Amino acid sequence: MIDSAILKKSIKEKFGHSDCAIFTAPGRINLIGEHTDYNGGFVLPASIDKCISLAIVPNGTYTVHLYSIDYDESVSFDVDSEKPKQQWACYVYGVIQEMKKRGASPGGFDAVFGGDVPLGAGMSSSAALESVFGIALNTLFNLGFDKRELAKIGQMTEHNYVGVRCGIMDQFASLFGQAGKVIKLDCRSLEYELFPFEPQGIRLVLIDTMVKHSLASSEYNVRRAQCEAGVAVIAKYKDGVELLRDVTLEELETHRAEMDSEVYMRCHFVISENQRLLEGCEDLSKGDYELFGQKMFRTHEGLSKEYGVSCEELDFIVEIARSVDGVLGARMMGGGFGGCVLAMVRDENHDEYVAKVREAYQKRFGKYSRVIDVVISDGARQW
Ligand code: GLA
Repeated sequence: MIDSAILKKSIKEKFGHSDCAIFTAPGRINLIGEHTDYNGGFVLPASIDKCISLAIVPNGTYTVHLYSIDYDESVSFDVDSEKPKQQWACYVYGVIQEMKKRGASPGGFDAVFGGDVPLGAGMSSSAALESVFGIALNTLFNLGFDKRELAKIGQMTEHNYVGVRCGIMDQFASLFGQAGKVIKLDCRSLEYELFPFEPQGIRLVLIDTMVKHSLASSEYNVRRAQCEAGVAVIAKYKDGVELLRDVTLEELETHRAEMDSEVYMRCHFVISENQRLLEGCEDLSKGDYELFGQKMFRTHEGLSKEYGVSCEELDFIVEIARSVDGVLGARMMGGGFGGCVLAMVRDENHDEYVAKVREAYQKRFGKYSRVIDVVISDGARQW
């Protein structure tokens, strides 16, 4: 996490402010339940100790002045102006526009921000950015949004200003997360339950393939459309079907012949994954991390073979994970097409797992992979 002293120094240098408010919002991991959120299903994410933080001062105008410490780049725009050219600034611009659509009027401000959520690694750096500006503007301009609405504001920023038709998981996790807990979120009702996740002697570690993904230019939106195509077939026969959440595996099987085979596979994965998550929560309540871990491996298989969102590098790491003692489960995490493999590993096997993957990965692909140990930590907050 970036040091608050760096933020304070930066806002003083860039904008001359000696006093400022500081906010922070984390990235997330997701234990199980991938690509289920936009299908109205369940997810099991948690906020982590990698965050984007900002120092901010309202400036009494309607102009926003931003400085990104990580990009070493400045951008200014009026709250009513056109979308800025820099992609990173569009997230902030989008949050402001979505707030305005809901009747709020955030004013102008000066802000500097930076952090340690790796970009394009499937850890939701963009949701962290939306959430940190969401809570900061909500607090400083007294806009009165609750956290659920702030999550929707972040999600709609992605839809309308970035071009990714994402679900609500990432923004929800960044805003609602709590140290030591995973969030079992029903993405249809937005009801949630916090589950303790503090297994003794087991760690969560991410290995980043360093294959960068951009969901906007990837097949993410295609997957979403394929799920909708499957729903449209079933809806012809069953009332009240709006999302894959409403469809059973039996119903899917019954109408299989009427679907494109790819659409069938995509839907089969999502319905099974949702079921797997519910069973996985039972494992967690019994403290059975081994059984839970096996489900993570099965999720990976489904994401790779049925949902088609993995890549050679991710599959390679998961294969190695299977061969190391003490790795209870491993799978690609997030939207896919690159990014990280999340593994649940026993303390005593952590170093061996990491060393084995890194060596084999370098040999096979001739490139470096990055190890990111994560701890489940608190969600977005003012410092
Ligand atoms: C991205 C999206 C989420 C979710 C995951 C896949 O992270 O932003 O809404 O769909 O992919 O589970």
